Amino acid sequence: MTCGAVIPAAGRGQRLGGRDKALLPLAGRPALAWILEALAHSGQIDEIVVVASQANAAAIESLCQVSKLWIPVRVTFGGAERALSVRAGVECLSPSVKLVLIHDAARPLLTPELVQRAVAMAHRHGAVVAAVPVVDTIKQVSADGRVVTTPERSTLVAAQTPQVFRLDWLREAYCRVGAGLATVTDEATLLERSGFPVYIFPGDPENIKLTTPFDVTIAELLLDYRSRK
Ligand code: CTP
Ligand code: MG
Repeated sequence: MTCGAVIPAAGRGQRLGGRDKALLPLAGRPALAWILEALAHSGQIDEIVVVASQANAAAIESLCQVSKLWIPVRVTFGGAERALSVRAGVECLSPSVKLVLIHDAARPLLTPELVQRAVAMAHRHGAVVAAVPVVDTIKQVSADGRVVTTPERSTLVAAQTPQVFRLDWLREAYCRVGAGLATVTDEATLLERSGFPVYIFPGDPENIKLTTPFDVTIAELLLDYRSRK
């Protein structure tokens, strides 16, 4: 079954002081280069679409060229919100694509094994999301800081990317959500809202998202450690 990957990389990295996450050098290579390599080495991905912004498109285009991957990589422009960027990427996939893997450019610790696990689970369930157990106790609070409720921790997981979906389901979910798309923070939510069954599979605690400078320090240490193994 043909599987395409969409990498949203059109964000502005505001919580990182405006640094571009996709191009951020980590252990000697840009974050996006680590991700492209993991996708290619998984052996599960037939084509890749990277979604860029006006600001980083030229740099991403040349990064994709120097990466010399053996699978086709295209670059397209994203939108004002993550979900709109992902949809723009999905629209660029070849007609033969049946499964789409979505992975944030902000998660450079992707591994070929995680991609393989994601695609295998998508073959079984049709809509899957990487997730890890929550280690902190999570509290729901009101605007004035009062605790409203404490959900039972054993029922909670933290969702990551990759997320993999049947493309026909994702397209159907796009039709159903209409203008509400901009506020959706991940595609799993979109499919859930459309009534499709979405399953989790074991993510990787090391597959952190670069949000703040602290995350960059951790990612750099992990990538450096991996490249020495
Ligand atoms: N993203 C995107 N298009 C947008 C916004 C975000 O493609 N309009 C991408 C980012 O490039 C990132 C992923 O979605 O790979 C997750 O978003 P986030 O971690 O929030 O990154 P940024 O939006 O860049 O960061 P910030 O919210 O701090 O500005
Ligand atoms: Mg953002």
